[in-house]
Amino acid sequence: MAYDIDIKDLQKSYGDIKAVDHIDLHVPEGEIMGLIGPDGAGKTTTIRILCGLIKADHGECRMANFDIPGQIRDIRRIIGYMPQRFSLYPDLTVGENLSFFADLYRVKKEERKKNTERLLQFSRLKPFIKRRAAALSGGMKQKLALSCMLIHTPKILLLDEPTFGVDPVSRQEFWDILLDLKREGVTLFVTTPYMDEAALCDQVAFMHKGQLLTVRPPQEIPELFEYQLLKVYCNRPVQAAREIQNLPKVESVQIFGDRLHVNTHDPESVKEAVHTALQNTEIEVKKIELARASIEDVFVDLMREDRGE
Ligand SMILES: Nc1ncnc2c1ncn2[C@@H]1O[C@H](COP(=O)(O)OP(=O)(O)OP(=O)(O)O)[C@@H](O)[C@H]1O
Ligand SMILES: [Mg+2]
Repeated sequence: MAYDIDIKDLQKSYGDIKAVDHIDLHVPEGEIMGLIGPDGAGKTTTIRILCGLIKADHGECRMANFDIPGQIRDIRRIIGYMPQRFSLYPDLTVGENLSFFADLYRVKKEERKKNTERLLQFSRLKPFIKRRAAALSGGMKQKLALSCMLIHTPKILLLDEPTFGVDPVSRQEFWDILLDLKREGVTLFVTTPYMDEAALCDQVAFMHKGQLLTVRPPQEIPELFEYQLLKVYCNRPVQAAREIQNLPKVESVQIFGDRLHVNTHDPESVKEAVHTALQNTEIEVKKIELARASIEDVFVDLMREDRGE
């Protein structure tokens, strides 16, 4: 049996909102699919359909060749699902949470002991086994939640924003675990708002307003960028963006903290124009440089195109 995920022409609407709009997606066994997209893109809806929690209006979903929702009982045995707002039992300790989920999934005694031991190692939660879940840090809570989802050794894991709000170091640790699982042959379907996590996936699917705008390996995403990218470092970025966006040959401007990303086909003349336009203003340009587009630049641009700007 291949533990893959196959989605064909999936559709789901809520009234006038097309939450999932003609989605086709295939995740081969042992690969990580990253589903990326802004708020309300339809990521959670897609995952919840896969888990049999809500019904699609149209289309076909199969996991390990079991049909959803027809064979959902068979599927539940082989998947782990971590919802977007996962709640551990705050009054139970780390150890008690793990045994609760082992009971829930009816994990056999011998297997339970072995798995618990392994997951505690894996997540480095062993020293905290007697700590109540409520007293764990955010990153530790997420690792415990993941461990609870792994107690029955699922073959396919569906994780909905598992690292949301977690600090960068803990996010890295969490992803180290996911990459280990992948090496063991587990198929992973992960949604995330973090672009740096997209780079760790085998394939990235970018979702916007229910549709998939592109699906490809993360290394190939920067090639989709059709402009040249100028990074403008300056004070007063909001004011600067307003000035720059109306200059000739500027396609678009995005603000990233203390710098602007300016898309253009003619970086040399835009560079000149920026210096001239901001010369006698309060805005001080510290540096302008030509840079390589990141995954985020490409997605911001794809969204802009999709909105017809
Ligand atoms: N039960 C529901 N009833 C009505 N509309 C819904 C329902 N669930 C989702 N929607 C709508 O469907 C669209 C997709 O929502 P979904 O939760 O799948 O997005 P998402 O990509 O997971 O967003 P986020 O990043 O905020 O979690 C949104 O417009 C949302 O408002
Ligand atoms: Mg969601």
